[in-house]
Amino acid sequence: MADLDDLREGSRFGIGTEVANQTFHVKGAGNLPWGMKDRLSRIFNPKSGKSVMLAFDHGFIMGPTSGLERIDLNIVPLIEYADCIMCARGILQSTVPPTFNKPICLRADAGSTILTELNDNVIIDIEDALRMNVSAMAVMLAIGDPVMEARTVANLYKAVDNGAKYGIPVMGVTAVGKDMARDSRYFGLASRVAAENGANIVKTYYCDGFENVVAACPVPVVIAGGKKLPELEALELCYKAINDGAAGVDMGRNVFQSEKPVAMIQAVHAVVHDGLTPQQGLEMFNDL
Ligand code: 5RP
Repeated sequence: MADLDDLREGSRFGIGTEVANQTFHVKGAGNLPWGMKDRLSRIFNPKSGKSVMLAFDHGFIMGPTSGLERIDLNIVPLIEYADCIMCARGILQSTVPPTFNKPICLRADAGSTILTELNDNVIIDIEDALRMNVSAMAVMLAIGDPVMEARTVANLYKAVDNGAKYGIPVMGVTAVGKDMARDSRYFGLASRVAAENGANIVKTYYCDGFENVVAACPVPVVIAGGKKLPELEALELCYKAINDGAAGVDMGRNVFQSEKPVAMIQAVHAVVHDGLTPQQGLEMFNDL
């Protein structure tokens, strides 16, 4: 029985004050259910609308590549500076402390390594993704690959179906095969295909004409960093991508292969969220 002693009448009904219309800061997500929006809000900062995702999933196809030999030593100290982390489940469960409470974009497909051609990728059981409390699942799309295109589109499609049941967004990751062009026509097509098949976020590469890639993609686009560049060039890449409409970066090697990864991720964060110029970002990097 509820305690009825001291039951106080409500009096603050705000009569005369309209209920504010809520808008949502993530592109293309206004019509999604609450759980999806909650997860997307954990990834994309509601104030800046942007995200710095730290990608360290490379080992799932490359093994212990430079900078990722010891995730506990090289990556864990960076996590506090990231808005979101992207990794595969084996590293998440074995090495990432669950106490960070950072949103996780889980690498949710697997199958190939760098030792073989792209082959029969599979996607994760959605219940395992739920058990790890992930905020998004990342699935690769090999658009233009004669063998793997259909398989990877089917994987994305299935991941979107699975995610929709439980409110988990999906990030479509556009692959760069050796025979695929790296221009705005290709990335624009691949990004749009990802979004049309239900991806809530698209990860692709920066290129000339990137503003067209972003404009034609109805959901947020984040860029991969690609191979290691000098710090100033990496910050320029971030700056240009944000200027051209990217919603953030999902960056790996340009952070964890930097001589000073902790300083680099903070400089990237400042360029993405606070509008620092690449030069200001470099000064921050040097100061740190
Ligand atoms: C590959 C990926 C990687 O996470 C991605 O390439 C980001 O890393 P980097 O900035 O080192 O390119 O999704 O499919």
